[in-house]
Amino acid sequence: MKAICNFIRNKINIRSTFYTIIFLMYSAQWIYAQNLEISHGPYLQYLTSNEVTISWSTSKNTISWVEYYEEDGSNFYQKEREQIFNASDGLKNISLQHSVTLENLKPATKYAYRIYSQEVKEDRSFGKTVATKVYKREPLYFTTQPLKKDQISVVVLSDMHENTEKVGSLLKEAEWDKIDFVLLDGDFVDSFESESDLYGGVLDTCVNIFAQKKPLVIVRGNHETRGIKAHELKKYFHFPEDKYYYTYKIGTTLFIILDSGEDKADSDIEYNGFADFDAYRSVQSKWLSEVVKSDEFKNAEHKIAFMHIPPYDNNRGQEWHGDLEVRSKFVPILNKAGIDLMVSGHTHNFSFQTSKSEENNFPILIADHKTRYNLLIDKTGIKIKGIDMDSKEVLNMFIEKDK
Ligand SMILES: [Fe+2]
Repeated sequence: MKAICNFIRNKINIRSTFYTIIFLMYSAQWIYAQNLEISHGPYLQYLTSNEVTISWSTSKNTISWVEYYEEDGSNFYQKEREQIFNASDGLKNISLQHSVTLENLKPATKYAYRIYSQEVKEDRSFGKTVATKVYKREPLYFTTQPLKKDQISVVVLSDMHENTEKVGSLLKEAEWDKIDFVLLDGDFVDSFESESDLYGGVLDTCVNIFAQKKPLVIVRGNHETRGIKAHELKKYFHFPEDKYYYTYKIGTTLFIILDSGEDKADSDIEYNGFADFDAYRSVQSKWLSEVVKSDEFKNAEHKIAFMHIPPYDNNRGQEWHGDLEVRSKFVPILNKAGIDLMVSGHTHNFSFQTSKSEENNFPILIADHKTRYNLLIDKTGIKIKGIDMDSKEVLNMFIEKDK
């Protein structure tokens, strides 16, 4: 009898152990599967009259895609939507960071979009899929630029140095319906040591406030060139032609984004032997010479340059190496070609350098680090408003268009 009891007890123990193992396996699998999430984004960049780039990141390696359609009042679920994959050379990319460019869009058109990521396990089998929500809620939208535009509205923030509260305060009363893009004029990170410096610093705040519907334009500052992940900045943002210097056209206004590099000499101890900015600025200078010869530049009604380090400030005789480099390599080209305005930062102090024939023959606005600058560009000129963190207007000026 005792032997029979022991046999039954052992059988029950084996069975309960078996069920416990199965339960734990399913739990582990469930927890594992639950861990896939869209960790940051999506955020829009380079929104023109016919294209846009959408970027985001996930907590696990995935393949990713965007579904989109021209807004027509229909429900996202009404029919199968066009899919554009994050892919290179015929293969879908497997990564944590994702970027999809939608091309051949119609000008001045509202589009609905949804991002998707599907987990790819180590054995290349597929796991769970995540997507932005559209069930009983509106999808995300963007509107392409028209081919002609009477008025362009740009918001500029400079030198935010990972201060999310400041970004939130400065953007809290912006009129988003009227704004075409937000430009970070450099030094949005302090030192790019980890993703949290980028996302936790400023980018997540931008996503929460505007970047899912309005594009973000990035100007590289000297602090973005610092830190162990500085070489990877391009992985997180879309730069046309894969360069930190580029042009961006809206209507008949051409924006020229320059990369001023570091502020001290390349040999400075602070750069640990990694800096090579003199040669880089020389190459960029050749590129700029070609830009100003292009029909796109010549035909543009307004030309506005953004560059983190100002070529001139109130520091005559006290300039650093970077100031003198951008002054000698970029300003003569811009002086000859003629631009309407340059917007810089870096000094953390507001300054306005008027046009001087022997130095900069275009005005330079130097943005401080605690003001939002709104540029309103139309055929009469450029209206500049400065708004502080308490939403008070601290600057109101107008640069009349040269007749
Ligand atoms: Fe700076």
